[in-house]
Amino acid sequence: MGKTGLQLSVLSYGSWVTFTKQIDDAASGRLMSLAYDNGINFFDNAEIYSRGESEKMMGRVLKTKGWERSSYVVSSKVFFGWRGDNNKPNQTGLSRKHITEACHEALGRFQLDYLDLFFCHRPDRDTPIEEVVWTMNHLIQQGKILYWGTSEWSAAEIMEAHMVAKELQLIGPAMEQPQYNLFERRKVEVDYYTIFKNIGMGTTTWSPLASGLLSGKYNNGVPEGSRLALEGFEWLKDRTLSTQRIESVRKLETVAKELNTSLATLSIAWCIHNQNVTTTILGATKEQQLTENLKAIELYPKLTPEIMTQIDEIMGTKPVA
Ligand SMILES: NC(=O)c1ccc[n+]([C@@H]2O[C@H](COP(=O)([O-])OP(=O)(O)OC[C@H]3O[C@@H](n4cnc5c(N)ncnc54)[C@H](OP(=O)(O)O)[C@@H]3O)[C@@H](O)[C@H]2O)c1
Repeated sequence: MGKTGLQLSVLSYGSWVTFTKQIDDAASGRLMSLAYDNGINFFDNAEIYSRGESEKMMGRVLKTKGWERSSYVVSSKVFFGWRGDNNKPNQTGLSRKHITEACHEALGRFQLDYLDLFFCHRPDRDTPIEEVVWTMNHLIQQGKILYWGTSEWSAAEIMEAHMVAKELQLIGPAMEQPQYNLFERRKVEVDYYTIFKNIGMGTTTWSPLASGLLSGKYNNGVPEGSRLALEGFEWLKDRTLSTQRIESVRKLETVAKELNTSLATLSIAWCIHNQNVTTTILGATKEQQLTENLKAIELYPKLTPEIMTQIDEIMGTKPVA
């Protein structure tokens, strides 16, 4: 992962939206086993996912599996809190108080002794960066987390954290978790260029299918039971679906057909084709989806420069450096 010695599988599995809201312990157990048995070693989570219930579910599953703790990597993320509208001022953000308490609470929910990765889920403009860097370093020294990172921070914010860490001789952020898919490319392909080149940074990228849109499942409406049909996720549906985007997905289908693969497999293979992507976090509610998505490993070496150019032309989303 970036400049660290940690080995992450190129595909990983996350629980946002799905755990507890769409799937129960039995289904998440089957999906995590399918992932683990196929070489996935990283499971992603956050304090806010299902208001803490997602970490509890993942923790219960891990306990029943009996896998060696050293064989997998688990993350949590701090910032949003887990109480929703009931969050009090110190129950969100990146103050020393909330980062420390969020770490302890996540460990309790997971029933684990340490988190491998701990992310600042968003930047906190009300907390000085020195306080964040010091707090993460204390947690590392206490053995409660192993690596700390950021999610959806700007390149300038990540660089500031590195400069402060260097000045204080502390450990800086080792990884960033940005959105990366055929519709969202700027951060990974342009903004972070200097950081990859000069500092080195792992990335655990999210929403490779833009919440399922890039599987083609929304080409003819919103299927019942799918993520964008869920109550409470209207904001995500509005943000994700547009006539123009669906048109691009339809056109992309011709490339998938030429390669004798599915749109989902192609879209995920496209993400991991980027050498600056350490791991792409998959989401899946069904074993069939995860099996299809795992095929990206076999497909990505087949994406020639000609095919990549064809994809760029169809999507029209390649950012200008
Ligand atoms: N750091 C952050 O701010 C942040 C934000 C978002 C996500 N994440 C992380 O990234 C992970 C992955 O993100 P994501 O869940 O949005 O990934 P995604 O791949 O964009 O969407 C996953 C969803 O698409 C549908 N799907 C997946 N494979 C499919 C297939 N082969 N055919 C048809 N439908 C398919 C499923 O939803 P349905 O079956 O319900 O339709 C699935 O839950 C999350 O779990 C979380 O760990 C992080």
